[in-house]
Amino acid sequence: MAKKHNDGYLSAKESRQIARENRRVTDRLEKQRKRKNVPESEYLTQMRDPGNAVEFENLHTCFFTDAGVVRSVDGVSFEVPIGKTVGVVGESGCGKSVTSLSLMQLLQRPQGQIVEGEIRLNLGDKAYDVAKVPAAKMQELRGNYVSMIFQEPMTALNPVFRIGDQIKEVLVLHNTEGRTEAEIEKRIIDLLEMVGIANAKGVAQMYPHELSGGMRQRVMIAMALACSPRIIIADEPTTALDVTIQAQILDLLRQLKDRINSSIMFITHDLGVIAEMADYVVVMYAGRIVEKGTAEEIFAHPAHPYTIGLMASKPVVGKKVEKLYSIPGKVPNPINMPHYCYFRDRCEMQCEGCAGDYPGEISLSPTHKVSCYRYTEENRKEAQEHGAEL
Ligand SMILES: Nc1ncnc2c1ncn2[C@@H]1O[C@H](COP(=O)(O)OP(=O)(O)OP(=O)(O)O)[C@@H](O)[C@H]1O
Ligand code: SF4
Ligand SMILES: [Mg+2]
Repeated sequence: MAKKHNDGYLSAKESRQIARENRRVTDRLEKQRKRKNVPESEYLTQMRDPGNAVEFENLHTCFFTDAGVVRSVDGVSFEVPIGKTVGVVGESGCGKSVTSLSLMQLLQRPQGQIVEGEIRLNLGDKAYDVAKVPAAKMQELRGNYVSMIFQEPMTALNPVFRIGDQIKEVLVLHNTEGRTEAEIEKRIIDLLEMVGIANAKGVAQMYPHELSGGMRQRVMIAMALACSPRIIIADEPTTALDVTIQAQILDLLRQLKDRINSSIMFITHDLGVIAEMADYVVVMYAGRIVEKGTAEEIFAHPAHPYTIGLMASKPVVGKKVEKLYSIPGKVPNPINMPHYCYFRDRCEMQCEGCAGDYPGEISLSPTHKVSCYRYTEENRKEAQEHGAEL
């Protein structure tokens, strides 16, 4: 790897050298992924718990850029149980979207690559490791097993095609064997009605720019649900909408999820939305999970200083404050992460051990895990001796 100048800038020569090294790695990975006729045994795996729809284990996803390797997701492990909603929170740039794009195999190629770890996807009678599934096979899984409601509906919909035709494309691409044209047309109208669009027949004939933001988001949901996927990834599906529409869309997602008994991976930086939607919560910081647990555990007993900070920066109705709390400082540079706790430079609760290596995961309950030195055996004992509740 090329060495950087002390001032942090790269010379043209160094940059070229990095680009060359990157190409070597990404070419190898792309070749592997694009192989034809890969035997299923290469990507077959076993769920650790058959009650889970997806299991991420030690996922590492990197972007090989000319400025260096960005470790966007750096050893993430969590699971999404069947029929449950898992909320993924964390501030902008912490790797939430990259985690979900890894599951969809929709990373920007060739620079975006899964370099380590497993993503086990439960197909019912068997399980696949998405990190190893070849590109052609993934096409079949997308839509049928996993689908995604994107962060920005306007960019995800094609502006030059009518809504009905875009939904039809999803249906035709996936499971419409033996279906007649009339049946497909009916399914399109049913889907639009299911997501609460009143004039479904009319809307099917319209172009995306003729719809309101809320309607576009509903169309996106209709497309994501077209083939009744087992897992729905909702990446900030309501950020661009006003609060009343937001509440309607959240209600809709909840109802639809129960109707098709799928799981939802709900990505947001809005804790209020998480409180309303999630059964489990995963808190990410700078590409890693710093805390995870049931929604009850995370909201009633947030443990990691970052989660505690997030809770404190959330406005509460009826509580008047001079100024909302904001966590001081900023996230470390993802190309050059420190070896110690990534939150240390912003942490106001430092204790014995924080100067050491990145903290390991500590179990506070069978479901509640945190990576922070405050919860090591010694620190807890000491705090309790001083009367603190940890
Ligand atoms: N195509 C790309 N090329 C290079 N780096 C990328 C690319 N996509 C994402 N990254 C980097 O990966 C990291 C994680 O990005 P990601 O999009 O997952 O953030 P996020 O948590 O979804 O943030 P937000 O809440 O703003 O959507 C960031 O540092 C980002 O700069
Ligand atoms: S390990 Fe230390 S520095 Fe890091 S979050 Fe915990 S208390 Fe703060
Ligand atoms: Mg994102």
